[in-house]
Amino acid sequence: MKVLIVGSGGREHAIAASVAKSPKVTKIYCAPGNAGIGQIAECVPIGAMEFDKITAFAKENAIDLTIVGMDDPLVGGLIDCLEAEDLRAFGPRKNAAILEGSKAFSKDLMKKYGIPTAAYENFDNPEEALKYLETAKFPIVLKADGLALGKGVLICNTLEEAQEGVRSIMTDKKFGTAGNRMVIEEFMTGREVSVLSFVDGKTIQTMTSAQDHKRAQDGDQGLNTGGMGTFSPSPFYTKEVDEFCQKYIYQATVDAMAAEGRPFKGIIFFGLMLTEDGPKVLEYNARFGDPEAQVVLPRMKNDLVEVVEACIDGRLDQIDLQFEDNAAVCVVLASEGYPVSYQKGFPIKGLDSFDGKEGYYCFHAGTALNEKGEIVTNGGRVLGITAKGATLKEARANAYKATEWVSFENKYMRHDIGKAIDEA
Ligand SMILES: Nc1ncnc2c1ncn2[C@@H]1O[C@H](COP(=O)(O)OP(=O)(O)OP(=O)(O)O)[C@@H](O)[C@H]1O
Ligand SMILES: [Mg+2]
Repeated sequence: MKVLIVGSGGREHAIAASVAKSPKVTKIYCAPGNAGIGQIAECVPIGAMEFDKITAFAKENAIDLTIVGMDDPLVGGLIDCLEAEDLRAFGPRKNAAILEGSKAFSKDLMKKYGIPTAAYENFDNPEEALKYLETAKFPIVLKADGLALGKGVLICNTLEEAQEGVRSIMTDKKFGTAGNRMVIEEFMTGREVSVLSFVDGKTIQTMTSAQDHKRAQDGDQGLNTGGMGTFSPSPFYTKEVDEFCQKYIYQATVDAMAAEGRPFKGIIFFGLMLTEDGPKVLEYNARFGDPEAQVVLPRMKNDLVEVVEACIDGRLDQIDLQFEDNAAVCVVLASEGYPVSYQKGFPIKGLDSFDGKEGYYCFHAGTALNEKGEIVTNGGRVLGITAKGATLKEARANAYKATEWVSFENKYMRHDIGKAIDEA
């Protein structure tokens, strides 16, 4: 089988590494990929939003399966374009990817089908939003409706802050058209857990849980980033929590989408908050998380391609999804200054230290080859260093040990990834 992966981050490297283990696969392409993905796949210089080029490439090269890793092309309808040419593709169609693409849609869906989530109101114009704020309780949460690179959520402690937030989202269009609508929702407190799942339109099978670290600095300080590290499983995702979510959240979401005429095939990422009143949905994403994929996929026992094909064909109920009874921790090596401004183009040393080391992974995010053929830094998040261990503590120690194997100028990381484990 020939497989094409669309995307260029650590998530896509983790997907490619899992796909490469499948005995069914003879060749992997990645559009556009990065230097690390290029070691196991052929990278093609096509951007993830160049739908016509991706479709033409898949046709010309007789690609048997295209896996779309990123949110933007899914929300934009890449799966529909591929399917229109009779190409097999994994991910939700445009009418289902709206589950992530519109927060107002997802909130209305949860309300209509009784899926636990924070209380909220949707707004189409800033005047009504500002009026609503006058009688609201603080802190309060403002969310741009559309995709905003993980930056469209503002937690506001005062009326003034919230008014400013409404203006920046809806009037000044800080996040572009993502701010044409807005959700204002109740502030919740509790631990956050992520649960990824495979969905075939009607059946859902959840993967092992994970927990990520969004803030740039130790102690959850600093700006929000794409994610500075993650661990799996989450010790806070207990059997009781799982039972509750299986009963009231997971299948209910899949059934709701089907009932709306938007059957969902692909990955649903449930962002959950474990509140005093029980687990509630913070958000849905319609794809693997990054870096969550980097700790979840290495622990999966199944052939990823087999599971993906079962989702496409609507026979996920026949798959016995299994995860290793161990743990994994991923520490992101970033460029100093991320997520604001940073330099790139520095050679990365020590990458071959990972060769042949069972249970250690170096997933590339922002890397490229320079004209000398060296692998250099090429983004804010550069590498995802993942290690497994029998326990979370062991995995964390292993991951931090492995972060020392690689070096580059401007190397930056958090030192407290997985610290929450100690409180469990
Ligand atoms: N109602 C809420 N109460 C408290 N905190 C919240 C609430 N909604 C969101 N948050 C916080 O804001 C973060 C981002 O929110 P959300 O997941 O909806 O945004 P996103 O931009 O889609 O994130 P991602 O990039 O992970 O997809 C959450 O992980 C959580 O920490
Ligand atoms: Mg999201």
